[in-house]
Amino acid sequence: MRSRLWILVAAAGSLSAQTRQVDIMPLMQEIVTGLGVQCEYCHSARGSGQPEPKKDIARQMIAMTRDLNARVQTATGKSAAEATQVSCITCHHGVPIPKQLSEVVTQTLREKGVAAAAAQYRDLHEHFYGRAAYDFGEDTLIGVAQPLAAGRPDDAIALLKLNLEFFPQSAKTYAAIGFAYTRKYDDPTAITYYEKSVELDPNNGVTRGQLEQLKMYQRKR
Ligand code: HEC
Ligand code: HEC
Repeated sequence: MRSRLWILVAAAGSLSAQTRQVDIMPLMQEIVTGLGVQCEYCHSARGSGQPEPKKDIARQMIAMTRDLNARVQTATGKSAAEATQVSCITCHHGVPIPKQLSEVVTQTLREKGVAAAAAQYRDLHEHFYGRAAYDFGEDTLIGVAQPLAAGRPDDAIALLKLNLEFFPQSAKTYAAIGFAYTRKYDDPTAITYYEKSVELDPNNGVTRGQLEQLKMYQRKR
């Protein structure tokens, strides 16, 4: 079904304007779903002769997607009907700019600070959770926070505590908070978080080892 669609689009230039309008609607529908936008996102100045920059990008993206499908078919030796179709949603997964959630949060963190990054995560969670758009799994915020822990432990802790709101049983998150507190030279607090982590996941030898070490060499604030 979809492969037929792409062939239609490829041939659209040679069809009469009227046939084309009819045939193009399933593609437009697919595009709207794939990018999570309304028609006006691209058709922003219909009939006015003004530029429509998103439509221009989309035209190139349609051509690119067609090329990708041709390459997939060549690479796998499969026919258009057999091969998995690449379409807008393959990359866009329901958003206009298909960045990973970790990239989105990291960029906001860099440009606007931790409060804005946390607010954005919450907002995106509200709008996109359960859709294919972003990975709201346990590891996304841990991945953003961990590299921060050494230099900006307070920011790392803020993001990890946000993660606990969504994953209250996340042993990994408790351990990561514990580590961040060691970077603040607050070993007693670090120990409480490591203990909680070990309680939730008693089989994790690495966390147990870190807890033992901390208890042995505990510094006082
Ligand atoms: C992501 C951008 C994008 C969105 C969103 C989008 N379109 Fe389009 N649309 C295009 C592009 C690009 C073309 C031109 C295809 C070509 O001629 O190569 C087009 C063509 C059309 C055409 C043929 C006439 C024309 O303007 O070229 C119609 C009609 C149309 N779209 C309707 C819609 C409707 C209705 C929606 C919402 C359901 C929609 N489109 C959403 C990008 C978009
Ligand atoms: C192979 C991956 C891939 C596929 C397939 C793909 N895109 Fe994209 N598209 C991207 C990336 C990456 C960007 C973001 C570029 C950037 O950073 O601004 C993008 C950006 C866009 C934008 C600009 C969004 C904005 O707000 O600036 C439009 C419009 C768009 N794509 C339309 C489409 C349509 C329509 C399709 C399907 C016909 C499609 N794309 C298929 C990767 C893809």
